[in-house]
Amino acid sequence: MRIRSKPWARPELEACPFFIADPKANRNRWNAVFGNGKPIYLELGCGKGGFASQAILKWQDVNFIAVDIKNEMLVLAKRKIEAALQAHQLTDEQVRVMIFNISYIAEAFGEEDCVDRIFINFCNPWPRGKHKKRRLTHPRQLVQYKPFLKGDLWFKTDDAPLFDETLDYLADNGFRVTYRTDDLHTAGFADNLETEHEKMFTDEGKAIHFLIAEPVRN
Ligand SMILES: C[S@@+](CC[C@H](N)C(=O)[O-])C[C@H]1O[C@@H](n2cnc3c(N)ncnc32)[C@H](O)[C@@H]1O
Repeated sequence: MRIRSKPWARPELEACPFFIADPKANRNRWNAVFGNGKPIYLELGCGKGGFASQAILKWQDVNFIAVDIKNEMLVLAKRKIEAALQAHQLTDEQVRVMIFNISYIAEAFGEEDCVDRIFINFCNPWPRGKHKKRRLTHPRQLVQYKPFLKGDLWFKTDDAPLFDETLDYLADNGFRVTYRTDDLHTAGFADNLETEHEKMFTDEGKAIHFLIAEPVRN
């Protein structure tokens, strides 16, 4: 997606108390960063923050980290999160936002980190063969998530080929699917939070595919 340059985005992020400027410095010490013993949920590719700003209200006993690669996106997420916190008189102690290229996520999270849930919402489908490895659900990503993912992965998309191929990626890389539906909005799944892209695709009449998977531990 093309987005307009926002020269003010990075300075605004750097002035934000819950912006992580150097994610790699926290590798293997994310639980200490929060220091409250609560679970950590990680959203990969948070975009404009519609999901994150709802998630921090829904799961208030959880630490939440929202990641995106673009300052222009993350700054909008940061603003939405701030507005949600303010509206509900919550502090930002359990929230962090960071700029990071998820292709290299193993440089920011290690096996001593304990992430209880990863959310991947409407990641780019990268439909062409040689580009598929850029998918956030590609095997080269799954092997990076496994060491620090101690709970489950929630994934949703409007893209049927991406969804079906992700089911194969998971099966081939030691994940067990514990829930799946090809029509999230009629499935009766109670814990869904609608994202910006989800609303857009739903308005276009598209069904949303959703799954929950967890690493198989020996
Ligand atoms: C299609 S948008 C979906 C945004 C949001 N999750 C939603 O459902 O509305 C994908 C988002 O992932 C981010 N993204 C794509 N590749 C990324 C990467 N390698 N590392 C970090 N963020 C990435 C993009 O900047 C964009 O904000």
